Amino acid sequence: MLNNIASEKQSNLRHALEILDLGGVVGIPTETVYGLAARLDRPEGLKQIFSVKQRPFFDPLIVHVNSIAMAQKYVTDWNEVCTALAAEFWPGPLSLVLEKSEAIPEIVTAGLNTVAVRMPRSEPTLELIRQAGVGLAAPSANRFGKTSPTSSAHVASEFGDAVFVVPDCKSEIGIESTVLRVRGSILTILRPGVVTPTAINKALAKKGLQISWNHVVDQVESPGQMKHHYMPDIPLVLTDALTSPPDIRAYVVEHAHEIPDQIYGVNVAKVSDFATAKELILSHDPLIAAREFYGKLREAAESRTDFIFFRVHPDMEGEIWAAIFDRLKKAASLSTLSPRSWLTMDLPKQ
Ligand code: TXA
Ligand code: MG
Repeated sequence: MLNNIASEKQSNLRHALEILDLGGVVGIPTETVYGLAARLDRPEGLKQIFSVKQRPFFDPLIVHVNSIAMAQKYVTDWNEVCTALAAEFWPGPLSLVLEKSEAIPEIVTAGLNTVAVRMPRSEPTLELIRQAGVGLAAPSANRFGKTSPTSSAHVASEFGDAVFVVPDCKSEIGIESTVLRVRGSILTILRPGVVTPTAINKALAKKGLQISWNHVVDQVESPGQMKHHYMPDIPLVLTDALTSPPDIRAYVVEHAHEIPDQIYGVNVAKVSDFATAKELILSHDPLIAAREFYGKLREAAESRTDFIFFRVHPDMEGEIWAAIFDRLKKAASLSTLSPRSWLTMDLPKQ
């Protein structure tokens, strides 16, 4: 029995390696979300990522590595801050954006001088990278702008048989990695995640490293962070905890004209009466909520009701909730909340 499992794992890995070697793409499990991977040294594979995902070329990819030594080959300004962060958080949900080396093809970074690198926490994926002997560029394995996949079944529902997926368990973190720009000792969060500024501060303080936070993120430095992203194809409405379903429905009917008809070429289903709704309910524990988030959002979208709503409770606060809200805001078509009532991520002052 055990032998069978081991040999099945081996043959899955061999199959994935073959596809990658021939310049194809494979689905890879990671602890955050599943990725759609190609070898860095196969231009055909890299191009295929964009065509399979229908992803625009201005959105850079994250390079997945299986060691610090491999990461160092792909960047030119690895420093002691990076060493301390990798020691604390790798393998894990933290991507470091650094100056890219010549080993990184243009298409991976959308023409930027920087590249994002991370070591994912999934045994089959780490083994795949080790055997490939080269970094794997991989975005999340969903069609562009749509809900990220946290299981192999989700990837199959996006691409069907067209993409072979290396099997593994569901993603335990559930939302994408924290993307951190490291410029010497100046740090900028380009995308929030479960590796929080507080955790980063703590890890660096332990090593006696002084850093400062840059709070201003410019669009050029952080492409791919547009307003609508991670969208289900029926409208998602955000509201506060006290609003009743009938009041939410009345609001949606009144504001229906604000809901876009199409996002990135995908139709958003809009009906006139918005009679049926499904509530997206998440645990109040942010780590559990992050894990459940994309799966529950998919289920809600599959309910084929007229709209989905999510009620923001006052106890949903703190840095990890801020990372979940970053996705919720991008997935939402409509919100009854004033922009100021959003939880914003306050970076701790050094
Ligand atoms: O957890 C994750 O990060 C997952 C798994 C598969 O590793 N990957 C992921 O990739 O979320 P993707 O392509 O969906 O998001 C990558 C985002 C880009 O949209 C961009 O915001 C940021 O990472 N990024 C990548 N390279 C960058 C760079 N050189 N400079 C700034 N931002 C970058
Ligand atoms: Mg994505």
